[in-house]
Amino acid sequence: MTSGEAAAQRHGCFACHSVDGSISWGPTWKGLYGKEVSLGDGSQVRADDAYLRESIREPNAQLVAGYHPASMMPRLPVSDQELEALIAYIKTLR
Ligand code: HEC
Repeated sequence: MTSGEAAAQRHGCFACHSVDGSISWGPTWKGLYGKEVSLGDGSQVRADDAYLRESIREPNAQLVAGYHPASMMPRLPVSDQELEALIAYIKTLR
């Protein structure tokens, strides 16, 4: 298991995110990296490192289209090191 996968498990990310494209409470991580994500305000953003970082640190700053703020991804106490590991892990989920 990579450290990113371990961090996702530790913080309960998999309760809401699948890695195989299946529907879950939140968007799947499969194919997320590099994708154009439609946001709730009608804009589009490329899912690069900066976007992933913000999505994890400030879950409600850029809300994915179709999700209500009350559907709520919680702010989780992810360390800087875990954050980088999570991003590296999400990148592998093509
Ligand atoms: C309680 C459910 C829940 C948990 C737990 C959760 N998330 Fe989320 N996550 C969501 C929802 C709902 C969205 C979509 C709304 C939004 O943009 O915040 C989301 C969005 C995201 C996105 C942007 C996805 C996209 O398609 O653009 C990333 C990246 C993400 N979460 C990472 C994480 C990580 C990493 C963890 C664990 C540290 C985590 N999430 C834990 C519910 C959750």
